[in-house]
Amino acid sequence: MTKTISKRNLICLIAGIALVILNSVSCKKENNGANPAPIPNEPNPEPGGNDPAAPNLPGTLYDYVGTRNNMPPYMQAFMNANPTLDNTPVGNPITNAGATLGRVLFYDKSLSVNNTRSCGSCHHQDKAFTDGVATSEGFEGNLTRRNSMPVVNLRFFRSATMFWDMRAKDIETQTLIPVLDHIEMGIPSLAALETKLTGISYYPALFKSAFGSEVVASDKIAKAISQFLRSIVSFNSRYDQGVATQFSNFSASEKNGMRLMQADFCTECHSDFSTAGVGKNASYLIVDNTGVNTGFGSNNGLESNYTDKGIGEITHKPADQGTFKIPSLRNVELTAPYMHDGRFATLEDAIEHYSTGIKQNPNIGIQFSGIQSGGLVFSAKDKNDIIAFLKTLTDQSLATEPKYADPFK
Ligand code: HEC
Ligand code: HEC
Repeated sequence: MTKTISKRNLICLIAGIALVILNSVSCKKENNGANPAPIPNEPNPEPGGNDPAAPNLPGTLYDYVGTRNNMPPYMQAFMNANPTLDNTPVGNPITNAGATLGRVLFYDKSLSVNNTRSCGSCHHQDKAFTDGVATSEGFEGNLTRRNSMPVVNLRFFRSATMFWDMRAKDIETQTLIPVLDHIEMGIPSLAALETKLTGISYYPALFKSAFGSEVVASDKIAKAISQFLRSIVSFNSRYDQGVATQFSNFSASEKNGMRLMQADFCTECHSDFSTAGVGKNASYLIVDNTGVNTGFGSNNGLESNYTDKGIGEITHKPADQGTFKIPSLRNVELTAPYMHDGRFATLEDAIEHYSTGIKQNPNIGIQFSGIQSGGLVFSAKDKNDIIAFLKTLTDQSLATEPKYADPFK
């Protein structure tokens, strides 16, 4: 088969001969079809070289300061009774301008080295800020080690420690870790991040209104994202409405599922201890992980030999080996797959684990330490009822709330 030299390639060839040294890359890349493919823009390696489209922000800022005040009365009372519960530091109160900047940063792909990943790439609003896969793809397509976590009600975790292994001491510290992570976003240094964002047209004004100065500094980036994250609270579920109406909105199946969760000690781990137990209105907030287990976090019997040491990897204490931060079950319907490694695709699989898959190990939670039969052995009806109840913990408004949405869309 003979190849004809296209007109375009011919021009390239002549140009190439005439300008030997300047022989352009685009000529070499050109195909010889009748409709040559458009020449892609080479990514600009200079910091600040790619100015993305500006975010769409409302004329009047959304209210982020007041989100805590929209809680149902029983939750408001719980918060008032536990004033130390909110981990907002004195030095970083939420302001509407600060959280607005945080929202932009959260969804801006410029926070990854090749402009392919934002925080929102792995924390999707419609999935209660998780991403639907066992482990997430970072900026070069490499996979994270663990399952993405929901970033909801984070401000009510008293000890403030973040990640499955609680290695970040607070939210402010957490926010810059994915940016610098060589799998997640790959920015080489905080200085490189500051330079890059300084060169993006919309940031100086956003920093000025949030912090009074146009200077883009990494501690302000951390503060702004933290303000946005702390503003994400979620208490608009059928469960929360049920508390106010003695669960008159619940089916018999949902009520039975709720009772089983209380009687089988699920709430001892998956709620604050003070509201755990039969007949109590559990907050379904994890306010702390200390005190529920032998060590710092908890173990629900996934493995007898821990492939991931979890918190133990950080603290090196025997009692912490194989333990993890307990996930909140609020919005669990939206956060599949489940567990720190995303091993269970469905809620059915997760409940089957508690029914028949519990494996004894030295650090298993006391709630399960006596169980020899491999689990709590639920009937098919009980499993259905627990799942029906878990779905009452879904807050549909969270998934669509405009102030938490991607401003680049
Ligand atoms: C490539 C996917 C990916 C990107 C990008 C990403 N995350 Fe995550 N996020 C994860 C995974 C996976 C975990 C769990 C990691 C672990 O525990 O080791 C996580 C955990 C978290 C947690 C801990 C929540 C908790 O309850 O302890 C927070 C907060 C968080 N991410 C916020 C962010 C922010 C802010 C950004 C952007 C600066 C971001 N993430 C970018 C995947 C991602
Ligand atoms: C000893 C404390 C403990 C008890 C009791 C407990 N869990 Fe868990 N649960 C955990 C921990 C810890 C995890 C995360 C484990 C991991 O990923 O390594 C978890 C994870 C889950 C998940 C997956 C959540 C997610 O986002 O990945 C579901 C669903 C769940 N538990 C439901 C229940 C139910 C239902 C019960 C009662 C039958 C129960 N749990 C009892 C500690 C407990």
